[in-house]
Amino acid sequence: MVKKAIIPAAGYGTRGLPITKVLPKEMFPVGLKPAIHYVVEEAIESGIEQILMIVSKKKNMIVDYFDESLELETFLERENKHHLIDILPVPSIPIHYIRQPYAKGLGDAIRLGKYFIGDEPFAVLLPDDILLSNKEPALKQLVNQYNKFKKSIIGIKEVEESKLKHYGVISGEAKGEELFKLDDIVEKPSKNAPSNYAVIGRYVFSPAILSLLDKQQPSVGEELQLTDAIKDLLSQEECFGKVVEGKRFDIGIYEEYLNLVNTIQQAKNKKK
Ligand code: UTP
Repeated sequence: MVKKAIIPAAGYGTRGLPITKVLPKEMFPVGLKPAIHYVVEEAIESGIEQILMIVSKKKNMIVDYFDESLELETFLERENKHHLIDILPVPSIPIHYIRQPYAKGLGDAIRLGKYFIGDEPFAVLLPDDILLSNKEPALKQLVNQYNKFKKSIIGIKEVEESKLKHYGVISGEAKGEELFKLDDIVEKPSKNAPSNYAVIGRYVFSPAILSLLDKQQPSVGEELQLTDAIKDLLSQEECFGKVVEGKRFDIGIYEEYLNLVNTIQQAKNKKK
């Protein structure tokens, strides 16, 4: 069973400057909820029972958002607005927090979850990738596969060739059901990408990845890369890539963020 998840949210969000100087991209509004709220809901709907968020000095807004607000609740009660208390974002599962002192990379952020995870399989959800699925939540699709094979499994999607340079790109042997047995993964290939399948921000890992993260040296962008630890994992365990059903929006790219906002609004209008 995959019960724990790490959500790394300590990056600087440089692609979103200047607004991300004060507003974390994870808190960008999508309807009346911030983006990270959708990711927490996805984790809960996928069976996750505890979340560790990796934050930084500049991300206290995220911690406040998911916390109780006694003052606001008291006010709403006094005003007889009980229905509004119900929509306040206090998740049904515990969320723990660790600060990443300096944004040294995604690999470094996940590494901080070592003691929280212990010796269990765990999920990672990147909060700047929002996945809207018509069937099952994206992470649930990976957890289902993990339950079958008990191997690390990475969410992937086919993307246009011109966009491959922005992502981790896999190569592997097709195993049917949109599944690949991975043999390599390359971080942000500037040319000669090994396939058209890019990593989306959803993963289920065996705990072995954590000790491999500890051994990494900074690489692409001078950051500790999760991709490098996955490469090492591939040399000691089988890992799979699963094409995830659903639409992916990378909110680090402004056009995709706008597209997400419009998609959510259109879905709301349809319901009316
Ligand atoms: P990104 O590389 O997409 O986010 O990392 P970023 O670094 O914040 O954004 P840009 O590239 O400068 O615009 C994916 C996720 O990993 C987190 C980010 O917060 C984001 O949610 N992350 C990244 C960390 O938690 N720590 C890091 O050191 C780097």
